[in-house]
Amino acid sequence: MTLYAHIVGWGKFAPAKVLTNDDLSQMVDTSDEWIQARTGIRERRIASEQETTASMSIAAAREALRVADADPAKVDLIIVGTVTPEHLFPSTACLVQDALGARQAAAFDLSAGCSGFVYALGIASHAIEAGAYEMALVIGAETLSRIVDWTDRRTCVLFGDGAGAVVLRASKHPGGVLSSILGADGSGGELLMLPGGGSRFPSTPESVLNGMHHLHMDGRRVYRFATKIMVRATRQALEQANLSLQDLSLLIPHQANQRIIESAARGLKLEDGKVFINLDRYGNTSSASIPMALCEAVESGHVKRDDTLVLVGFGAGLTWAAATVRWSVPLPVATPPRWRVAVRWARYRWAAIRRRALSALWWLIERLFPPKPDRKG
Ligand code: ACO
Repeated sequence: MTLYAHIVGWGKFAPAKVLTNDDLSQMVDTSDEWIQARTGIRERRIASEQETTASMSIAAAREALRVADADPAKVDLIIVGTVTPEHLFPSTACLVQDALGARQAAAFDLSAGCSGFVYALGIASHAIEAGAYEMALVIGAETLSRIVDWTDRRTCVLFGDGAGAVVLRASKHPGGVLSSILGADGSGGELLMLPGGGSRFPSTPESVLNGMHHLHMDGRRVYRFATKIMVRATRQALEQANLSLQDLSLLIPHQANQRIIESAARGLKLEDGKVFINLDRYGNTSSASIPMALCEAVESGHVKRDDTLVLVGFGAGLTWAAATVRWSVPLPVATPPRWRVAVRWARYRWAAIRRRALSALWWLIERLFPPKPDRKG
C-alpha cells in the first residue's frame, strides 16, 4: 500500500519582545532606512532570558498537536532543525520529547542551517512513506540572539528568534509532502559559520575574547548563492512531483532577505501574491522561518485545501532544500472535543511531574546509598 505524509497540524511561537530597527540604531551604526531598503526587515523578536530553543519548540509543538488534535503519546518521531540547540547534547528534540510525554518517539536534532526545517520535513516524510512511522513532529527553532555579535552591524540587524512546528501523519490518500530536494555544498562552509565551541576550536577564554562563539557571515557571497539556488531547488521540487510552475499556488521561501525572495520570484516568473513574506516582522529566524511563515500563511487565509505549496530554503553548510506539499486539511480546522484537550493537558502535566519525581528519586537514591570509597592496596 502506498503511504503519504500529510501535514495535519501546525503551530508557531514568537517571543513577545520586539526589537525594532530604531532600537538597533541605538546599539550600532545603522538606520531603519538602511535595514528596510537592504533587507525588508522592520523588526524581529528576541527571546527573554527564560525563553530558549527547547521552550519555544515545546510551545510550537503543543500548538501543532492541538491543531492536529493528536495524542503526544502516539508521536513516533521528533526532529528539531536548529543551529542554536539548547545544549551541544542532549539534543533539543529529546527535551521536547520529554516535555510532551511523547514516550514512544525517537528524537534527534538536525543541523542544516536555515534549510534545517525542510531537511527534517523531507527525512520525516520519507520515513512515513516507507511505513516506518505513523506520526512525526517536525520543528524548526532558533535562539539566534544568543549567537549574534550585537556589535556587528553587518549581521545583528538580520536575525531573530522563534519556532514553528508541523505534525505529519501517514495516510493512504494521495497528497501531503509530494517531493523533497535536499542538497549541500560543503565547500562554502566558511561563508556562514559559528567557529567556536566544537572539536576544532573548543571553548576557552581566548576563543570567547576572539569572538569565535558568534555567527560569522560573508553576506555578499551568501546572497549570490541564495538567489540562484532558490530558483533551481523550487523547479526541481516541482519536477520531482511531476508538476510545473503553473501548478504552484504559493511559494513559502526562507525569510532571509526580501531582495533575495523578490529575485527568486522574478527568476521563477511568479505572479504577485504567489510568494508569502513575513520577514518584515520576524527577520531571519533560520530553521524557524519557513514553519513560522507556513503557519501565518494558513492562519491568514493564504492557503486552501488542495493548494500546491513549495517550501524552499538555503543556509549554512552550504545547504538547500525544497519540498512540494499538497495541502489536504480543510480550513478552518474543527475545534477538538474538550475531553481530548483535557487528555493532552494531563499528558503534559504528567510529563512534568514524572521528570521532577525521577530527579528527586535519583537524588534520594544517591543520598541513601552513597558510592563506596575506592579501596586501594
Ligand atoms: N547598516 C548600515 N550600513 C551597513 C550595515 C548596516 N546594518 N551593514 C552593512 N553596511 C554597510 C557596509 O559596511 C557597506 O559599506 P561600505 O560599502 O562602506 O563597505 C555597505 O553597507 C554595503 O554592504 P553590503 O554587505 O554590500 O550590503 P548588501 O547590499 O550586500 O546587504 C546583506 C548586506 C543584507 C547582509 C546581504 O548581503 C544579504 O542579505 N546577504 C545574505 C544573508 C543571508 O541570507 N544569510 C542567510 C543566513 S542563512 C543561515 O543559515 C543562518
